[in-house]
Amino acid sequence: FNVPTPINEPVKGYAPDSPERAELHRELKRLKQLELDIPMHIGGQEVRTGKLQRISPPHDHQHTLGHFHLGEASHVQQAVDAALAARPAWSEMPWEHRAAIFLKAAELLAGPFRARLNAATMLGQSKNAFQAEIDSACELIDFFRYNVQFMREIYELQPQSSPGMWNRLEHRPLEGFVFALTPFNFTSIAGNLPSSVAMMGNVVVWKPANTQIYSAQVLMELFKEAGVPDGVINLVYVDGPTAGSVLFNHRDFAGIHFTGSTGVFQNIWKTIGQNIHKYKSYPRIVGETGGKDFILAHPSAHAKAVATAISRGAFEYQGQKCSAASRVYLPSNLYEEVKGYLVEDLKSFKMGDVEDFSNFINAVINEASFDKLAKYIDGAKADPAVEIIAGGNYDKSKGYFVEPTIIVAKDPKYVTMCEELFGPVLTMHVYDANQFEETLDLVDSTSPYALTGAVFSQDRYAIDLASRRLQNAAGNFYINDKPTGAVVGQQPFGGARASGTNDKAGSILNLLRWVSPRAIKETF
Ligand code: ALA
Repeated sequence: FNVPTPINEPVKGYAPDSPERAELHRELKRLKQLELDIPMHIGGQEVRTGKLQRISPPHDHQHTLGHFHLGEASHVQQAVDAALAARPAWSEMPWEHRAAIFLKAAELLAGPFRARLNAATMLGQSKNAFQAEIDSACELIDFFRYNVQFMREIYELQPQSSPGMWNRLEHRPLEGFVFALTPFNFTSIAGNLPSSVAMMGNVVVWKPANTQIYSAQVLMELFKEAGVPDGVINLVYVDGPTAGSVLFNHRDFAGIHFTGSTGVFQNIWKTIGQNIHKYKSYPRIVGETGGKDFILAHPSAHAKAVATAISRGAFEYQGQKCSAASRVYLPSNLYEEVKGYLVEDLKSFKMGDVEDFSNFINAVINEASFDKLAKYIDGAKADPAVEIIAGGNYDKSKGYFVEPTIIVAKDPKYVTMCEELFGPVLTMHVYDANQFEETLDLVDSTSPYALTGAVFSQDRYAIDLASRRLQNAAGNFYINDKPTGAVVGQQPFGGARASGTNDKAGSILNLLRWVSPRAIKETF
């Protein structure tokens, strides 16, 4: 078999006088002048319920970008019916044709859809242009291209045969429909969860986070234009319990592809368990959930490299990446130097809306997130046992702005060293430089999560020791680099423990979950 060799989409720089910057500005302006009416998409039909919900930019909550139509249980049922009606033709389509659709989606996104998707992500999710380029356009193009290659590798996985006997594996789609439940923080993940499942011949009911609907509708148009047939991916806007009440009770429920919070995923798992006797097959449960990602510096680390990793790894996209560093362990010998660099870095970070490309920090996603972060910051301000060395201010008068904040805690189990905050608030603990080994145990045992983590050291023994002791503490482990920014095809992404099922997005391991192979033996 032969497919185009995938390459990672080159990231555009958006330099001040570049044509891509001018195009993106035009698109932002165009979108801001519209008030979009955003329907659900079920079986190729646009579905409007008239129950309108306002969408506004998190950095400018008085502005209206549009409204989406909120659905009910009956719409979820219609989406299942449409998916199951589309299944026979889609699942029998030769894989090369399914691959071609998603290769076309990659090219459309690299070209005419790029500015639209980036602008929608910037406005709807308050993500700056550079992060939108990396996390929306480029990463989703990469998912499409690399997944086509992984798909080919799967179909090539074949057993041995011998004269008079031919053994083969048919990598069939799952029997039923798959539920894709997607997050706000990466538009690429929102696009990948339904498309990777569909690519393998499955049909999908897709429910995005309410805070990502503005860019989800661009993804749906992209799928349509690339040639995904009606009913293969159905997009519904309903609340979680409504979706669950239909999907998890359906005999044809075949799996869930999820990125979101640990609590929601555990509840879903329980519900599926309780309903297990109702299903035709054991559903595939694939989820990426929470994190409390760490950076650990050894006394031999370069202070400047550690500081840069912290300021980028903790504060890009306001710390709302699942991979973002949120707890740091610094040795006492490096503390003053790292602190000096960090305070300088954070002073240079401009905060504001997404249209001014010099703003590195934009708003957090919504009021609930803002209020939660403000509460933790207030707690730190009132606690004499901790010190805030940078940031600490917040303001929601125009948008949900929280300054990048660094808390230094003597107690390595201080509340913000342990709990997932999902925002631009980082906690550091300074350990005695002679206690590196003890600190490894602390890193491993402090959090139930195991998504990403980074170790900085110039000492190979220390790196080796950390790598072994922390072998279960992070599904993505970085040595002398920040813990964010995994690239499809280079660092397959996913965590274990309370961070997920570790079915590595952007790898063959993930796509394998979406087939149910049939082994065939034929004799002559
Ligand atoms: N690719 C994303 C990151 O690693 C999830 O930050």
